[in-house]
Amino acid sequence: MQVDISRDPKLSKLDHLFVLLAEDNRDVDVPPDVRKVIGDARFEGRGDEAITVLHDPPRKLTLIGLGKADKLSLRGLRAALTTIARTAKKQRDKTIGVLFPYLLPNLDAAQTTRIAADYLSGADYKYDAYITVKKEDKRPSAAATLVAHPDLDSKTVKALNAQVSAVADAIRTVRDLANGPCNIITATALADRAEAVAAEVGIKCTVYGKRDIQRMKMGGLIAVNRGSVEEPRFVVMEYTPKKRAKQHVALVGKGITFDSGGISIKPAEKMEEMKFDMCGAASVIGIIEAAAKMELPVKVTSIFAATDNLPSGSAYKPGEIITMMNGKTVEVVNTDAEGRMVLADALHYASGLKPNHIIDYATLTGACVVALGSEASGLFTPDDELARKLIECGERVGDRLWRLPIWDEYKDLVRSDWADIKNSGGRWGGATTAAVFLKEFVDCPSWAHLDIAGTAYAESETSRDARGSTAAGVRMTLEFLESLSRS
Ligand code: BES
Ligand code: MN
Ligand code: ZN
Repeated sequence: MQVDISRDPKLSKLDHLFVLLAEDNRDVDVPPDVRKVIGDARFEGRGDEAITVLHDPPRKLTLIGLGKADKLSLRGLRAALTTIARTAKKQRDKTIGVLFPYLLPNLDAAQTTRIAADYLSGADYKYDAYITVKKEDKRPSAAATLVAHPDLDSKTVKALNAQVSAVADAIRTVRDLANGPCNIITATALADRAEAVAAEVGIKCTVYGKRDIQRMKMGGLIAVNRGSVEEPRFVVMEYTPKKRAKQHVALVGKGITFDSGGISIKPAEKMEEMKFDMCGAASVIGIIEAAAKMELPVKVTSIFAATDNLPSGSAYKPGEIITMMNGKTVEVVNTDAEGRMVLADALHYASGLKPNHIIDYATLTGACVVALGSEASGLFTPDDELARKLIECGERVGDRLWRLPIWDEYKDLVRSDWADIKNSGGRWGGATTAAVFLKEFVDCPSWAHLDIAGTAYAESETSRDARGSTAAGVRMTLEFLESLSRS
């Protein structure tokens, strides 16, 4: 929904005011009429508490409990904001106000206000492009006013509003692309959408077709694409800030528009979820969109390799040996380990640009989902300093990472008797052996691989989010790019 952070909102003009309150809230700054309702209703602020009273003006006042004040969390805030958005939708409120009179742990007033506005913007998201509802059922979502923390001046509020709308737009781009059906979001369509985004924010975008990809000798991408009737695409988006940038960050995304497993075909159950196998590509498109809109003083290049992975008479097979763009040979032992095949070429290409950092985003392994579930993306990097920074950025915006090893000791598992390396190390340590494989194709002093297989999409709706794409990694990366521009 549309969110406007405001220092002195006209609360009396709103359909519905929501006030978020923790326990022991006597000293918390709320308007006197709200304070009276809290007392009259004996509202305590427990986590399971919510009451709505008719109160004129605003017409409706809802108090939502947050639990213990010293236990406030991004997660709790997010659940509360989602409740607000869902309530407003059901009650057909046209204008709502949200008052969150607290600071989140380790965040200042600006950071707290920004993340609250950011979450609220996406809290009513639902992908309904293909739901053929009757016209009268179409409820426009509410316009929300978030009361700014009293410490913020008007200049800061203005800047925050611009940042929040840039991030919200980017997250919507990512979610719409990722949630899109795999017959529509083909490699060609994904490249077209990248071009459209680039045109909108005024950045460069180069789309390489099948012939270009063959000419560049991207053996991994060509091999995976062989089973498909759809052409592959390799896309490079470039944002160059107006002032000379000190840092250049290359972002690389896995863009498998549908992963059937290929000849090493997957079981039928939940195979439809493999339309989300392009979430990495969607992320790098969204991140560069926001970076350009926010005019960050960092050069950003977003790169993705797109194709689907299907079985056919011409599909690549176990037993093949593929020569990759960097000249290394790969023995294919499992065609379902296709993500690393296309990423290898994309990472090699990115290395050639000599950026300061490379970060890749990939729904790469089921093993990562087994290890971390959906609470954290897997982080793999030989660079301790980069690991520390990315983890810290993720914690600040509720987009968490957990580091897993990428030690050379694991290389034994991907050693091949027939080629330089094989594309699967088997089940044990599967997320790490995938990362170790990728490392063979990276030539950059500072690289991180994010396995977003468990975080990029939600299998079902939760108290915090809709089903489908979550845009995992996007907020963390924007925080990182902003932190680079400060240093
Ligand atoms: N796209 C899948 C990984 C995946 C699994 C993402 C579950 C989201 C949910 C990837 O291409 C894949 O199939 N990986 C294999 C690798 C194996 C063959 C070495 C896997 O994880 O089983
Ligand atoms: Mn696969
Ligand atoms: Zn895959």
